[in-house]
Amino acid sequence: MPELPEIVTALPGPKAQQVIARDHAAISLSYTRSYPLVAERGEGALVSDVDGNRFLDCNAGIAVVAAGHCHPAVVAAIQRQAQKLIHMSGTDFYYENMVTLAEKLARLAPSGGPQRVYFGNSGTEAIEAALKLARYYTGREKVIAFLGGFHGRTMGALSLTASKAVQRKRFSPLVPGVTHIPYAYCYRCVYGKQPESCAVECVKVIEDQLFKTILPAGEVAAIILEPIQGEGGYVVPPAKFFHELMQVARKHGILLVADEIQSGMGRTGKWWASEHFGFEPDILAVAKGIASGMPLGATVARAEVMNWGPGSHASTFGGNPVAVEAALATIELLDRELIENAARIGKRMLDRMRPWPRRFPNVGEVRGHGLMIGIELVRDQAGRERNGELRDWLVRAAFERGLLTLGAGENTVRLSPPLVITADQADFVMDTIEELLASR
Ligand SMILES: Cc1ncc(COP(=O)(O)O)c(C=O)c1O
Repeated sequence: MPELPEIVTALPGPKAQQVIARDHAAISLSYTRSYPLVAERGEGALVSDVDGNRFLDCNAGIAVVAAGHCHPAVVAAIQRQAQKLIHMSGTDFYYENMVTLAEKLARLAPSGGPQRVYFGNSGTEAIEAALKLARYYTGREKVIAFLGGFHGRTMGALSLTASKAVQRKRFSPLVPGVTHIPYAYCYRCVYGKQPESCAVECVKVIEDQLFKTILPAGEVAAIILEPIQGEGGYVVPPAKFFHELMQVARKHGILLVADEIQSGMGRTGKWWASEHFGFEPDILAVAKGIASGMPLGATVARAEVMNWGPGSHASTFGGNPVAVEAALATIELLDRELIENAARIGKRMLDRMRPWPRRFPNVGEVRGHGLMIGIELVRDQAGRERNGELRDWLVRAAFERGLLTLGAGENTVRLSPPLVITADQADFVMDTIEELLASR
């Protein structure tokens, strides 16, 4: 495939229209679709649709295809394994590649020391396992999570999710015992602080208020967070937020759970976003980019913490041999070149994009690490009023020019391309968004 997008029909094209009509009749209405893309093929950072239009994919299947669409090494690994053993159920039997992957993840974990790994099939399952493990290990019931956080949609994970009301509406009662507090969203600090005056009030509130009023510290099993909030708007906290959190957690015997489902697997230019901040969680939840598109999730915990007994938690498909083989191939590619590419191209993008607020009055802030980049749009820079309308328009207009992006939070455009994206492709992304911003 050539490197850049090409749009050859009106969108959606005639074949896409047919699929969409059938989809509307057959598929759950709970899915959100920002624009009518009907994908047919993918290669690297490009996706073509059923009508022959070619798009540059800055979503990567929602931060999933880390090594790009259909990377030949990942495809070959899947094919090889599919001819040998497709399924066995690692919860009841042994097979070697699951052990190999666990050993690799244990070595990569941001907190160091011996680790154990539990395998599931998705991000949500990785979080469910983390939540259950935290309760099991500590014998405590309660959890602290953050507003704006997204951790998944099954009942346990949903109880931690605090991203959009529609995700919870009509599903209560959820799992009790979760207290949500404001995240370190410095651009919109709820404590009214500036970086110079910040005393990390968003962590201080835990000891100064929660523990003294509604939440006895000794009942708290875990504090769970995304080191960079994803669905919440690609929000990047300062390092001191993590240092304070570690202090509070260690002091009170509370486990720290890092949800690196979106921010992990090299996307930020390091294996884990946690590494940018010196954050050392006790439990790490991984999924999305781990297997470049095959369904797999992993919960990695300090070996001492993952001490639950046989039968306490398991999943028939978790650690499926084909998905595991795709993960092993992905890890090799990330290690060899793609994390470095994410860091290099991410820097190229952020160097050009961070000054956008000086050029475009509707850009409030551009933030991120590596290839996890958010563009927050506002009505005016002084008032910082959220501009969701402009965001939605921009995502749709970019699609019409062959660029796939998605929103995050109420008014942020997120860029999470596959880690194989090239410099020319990154320049196309930025040229396109600049033109769109300038046209308004
Ligand atoms: C940070 C984070 N955690 C958990 C999840 C849930 O993952 P899944 O959709 O694979 O269940 C997501 C999905 O977007 C996520 O971004």
